[in-house]
Amino acid sequence: MTVPTREPETQPERGRNLGDALGAMYVVAAAVMGLGFLIVVVLIFVPSDWREMFEEPSDVYVPGSTEVFSAPPPGPLEEPPGVTRIAPGQYRVVLVAYNWEFEPKEIRVPAGSEAHFVMRSGQDYHGFALIGTPITVPLVANAVTEATHVFDEPGEYLWVCSEYCGAGHATMQGKVIVE
Ligand code: CUA
Repeated sequence: MTVPTREPETQPERGRNLGDALGAMYVVAAAVMGLGFLIVVVLIFVPSDWREMFEEPSDVYVPGSTEVFSAPPPGPLEEPPGVTRIAPGQYRVVLVAYNWEFEPKEIRVPAGSEAHFVMRSGQDYHGFALIGTPITVPLVANAVTEATHVFDEPGEYLWVCSEYCGAGHATMQGKVIVE
């Protein structure tokens, strides 16, 4: 049976300590560089709206109100006016026309959003024309009219009542603010 012989100590004690310290510094430097690289990768490749990908699409924004509530549609004819984000980049806009105003009168969506308009008349006969688009549809009581438009560019997009409906017809309008 042979006993393994120990390697003779060839390095002086001081030199070895210096070598250990340098090795530790290299490890720390490599770790710092690796972390920096990781941060750069995250900043470049993770979209800035990454939180949206994990959120429940339930935010309802009513202009002039800070109230946010979940809105499972109670039924197409009872659905309250307002804007709901139904998926990242997609909004459901419930519009109701009365004599002589729309509700809501103003909505906001981010640029690049697809807006699904779900519209009806709450009173008599009206229409919806989104200026600058081919969308012009009648709005009648007890029926829902739908239209979809993608708002690519930031700006303000006006809509008006497209059917003559009486004294207040010319005042019936609203706008989409694309941010
Ligand atoms: Cu409402 Cu014209």
